Amino acid sequence: MRQKVIAGNWKMNGTPRETKALLKALVAASRTPENCAMVVCPPYPVLHLADVILKDSPIKLGAQDMSVHDRGAYTAEVSAEMLLTAGATYVILGHSERRQYHAESDQLVNAKAKKALADGLIPIICVGETLEEREADRTEEVVGSQIGGVLAGFAPDMIARSVIAYEPVWAIGTGKTATPEMAQAVHRFIRNRVADLNQEAAETVPILYGGSVKPDNADGLLSQPDIDGALVGGAALKADDFVAIIDAA
Ligand code: PGA
Repeated sequence: MRQKVIAGNWKMNGTPRETKALLKALVAASRTPENCAMVVCPPYPVLHLADVILKDSPIKLGAQDMSVHDRGAYTAEVSAEMLLTAGATYVILGHSERRQYHAESDQLVNAKAKKALADGLIPIICVGETLEEREADRTEEVVGSQIGGVLAGFAPDMIARSVIAYEPVWAIGTGKTATPEMAQAVHRFIRNRVADLNQEAAETVPILYGGSVKPDNADGLLSQPDIDGALVGGAALKADDFVAIIDAA
C-alpha cells in the first residue's frame, strides 16, 4: 500500500509564540494514524523550536525550500545539512510561490531534489498549472513537462523516495478547489507519466493534492484512488482543521 502523507505548509506564518501554541495543540489533538505521515513545514527560524516541541510525537518536520549548494557565499540560502541538523526530514521544493516570486525553474527544482535525496531529506516536489493554462486546455502539456523536468535523471529508487504534490496554481489560497474528479484525472496522468520512467516507482510514489484543502473537502479528495494525501496551506494553521484533514486520510 502506498504511504499517505498530510503535510502542512505554513508559508511565512509562525512566530515562536504562534509555533508553540499551534504545535502544542496539534500534539494534543493528533492520533497516530496507520500508514500516514503527518508533516509540518514551518519557516526556517522556528524549525529547531518545532523540533524540540515535536520530539516525542509522531509528527515529522519539514522545510519549505532549500539551497542547491552545500555552503558558502549564498546570502539568505539554507543548506540541506542545516535543515537536517534543525530536525527536518522533509523539504518542499518547487512550490508555485517559489516559481512565481523567485523564478525557480524545473531545472533548479530538479537539482535541489537530487541534492535533498543525496543528503537524506525527502523532497515534496510541486507541480501544477495556472488558470490561464487550464483554460487553454494545456494542463496535461504543462504538468507533463514539469514532471519530465523535475524528475530528469532520477533513478527508480530516487522517485520511490520522493513525494510529488499536484497543486493547481488557481486553487492555492483562493478557496477554489479542483473537484475530486478533476484532481484524480491529473493525479492519474502524473502517475502514468512517472510510469513511463519506471512502473514500480510510479506505484510507490505518494502524489499529494494541494490547493484549498479544508476539512469539508478532504474526504472527497482523499478517497480518490491516485490521491495519496494533501499539501495543506491555510488550513494547516488551525490545529482542529489540520487534525480533521489527517483524520480524513
Ligand atoms: P492553500 O495552500 O491550502 O492555502 O490553498 C496550499 C499550498 O500552497 O501548499
